[in-house]
Amino acid sequence: MAERGDLGSAGFARGADVYERARPGYPIDLVALLAGRAQLVGGVVLDVAAGTGKFTRQLATAGGRCVALEPSAAMRAMFVVATPGVPMVDAGAEAIPATAAAFDLVTVAQAFHWFDAPVALAEIARVLRPGGMLALIWNEREESDPVMAEFSRIISWDERRPLRDVAHYSPAIERTGLFHAPEHHRFGHIERVSRQTLVEMAASRSYVNVMESEERAGVLGRIGELAASLAEPIAIPYVTEVYTARVLARP
Ligand SMILES: C[S@@+](CC[C@H](N)C(=O)[O-])C[C@H]1O[C@@H](n2cnc3c(N)ncnc32)[C@H](O)[C@@H]1O
Repeated sequence: MAERGDLGSAGFARGADVYERARPGYPIDLVALLAGRAQLVGGVVLDVAAGTGKFTRQLATAGGRCVALEPSAAMRAMFVVATPGVPMVDAGAEAIPATAAAFDLVTVAQAFHWFDAPVALAEIARVLRPGGMLALIWNEREESDPVMAEFSRIISWDERRPLRDVAHYSPAIERTGLFHAPEHHRFGHIERVSRQTLVEMAASRSYVNVMESEERAGVLGRIGELAASLAEPIAIPYVTEVYTARVLARP
């Protein structure tokens, strides 16, 4: 099995098309929050770790003038197909190839846990204009739902998940001394998927992607059996956790 440190790159090098099909989008309440609290509409927006562009597309549709950053070649290749018209740059969060104060809003969806947090936060603070906003976003399956609990049991989510507790990123932001106190928001939303998409939801997990083929086939087979026992469309409840923080004015 790959070490956790390698997963952020290796785990997304395979199956970008499956990722694009199977991973959830983000709730419209989140886009409304950013439109109301940050300069999303008409602003210059950097979506870091944009992947295939699932969130970038929502930001662009809402009126953001987006630029995307993504270090995985496979994800970038899918991005240019799925998210035409948005500039995509090959870079990681720890070295952002942009001048200081270039962006009104920086978003990181479902990815901040892969970053070297202090280095990435300093880079993000540097490229935000004074008063600009950072938004860290995670979609989490609602584990109180019995189908989701069974899904997580089969993919050994509790033991192998790369992300433990998003709440500790709030103090991590504060410790930098570069941002105002973060605000926390939560939104519930439901995605309705086919049986095949339920299997692909498991297949698109970074650590499932890098399993030995026999183990991977076993896990996906058991998810297939779960899917076969459910009526379509299958409702997948998510909670979206959001931390926003405005950058402090530079001295
Ligand atoms: C779960 S995907 C999220 C993609 C997209 N933001 C979305 O919401 O669908 C995580 C992404 O983080 C990227 N990533 C991993 N380490 C990174 C780093 N240090 N800097 C920037 N992106 C990174 C991966 O290549 C992958 O595309």
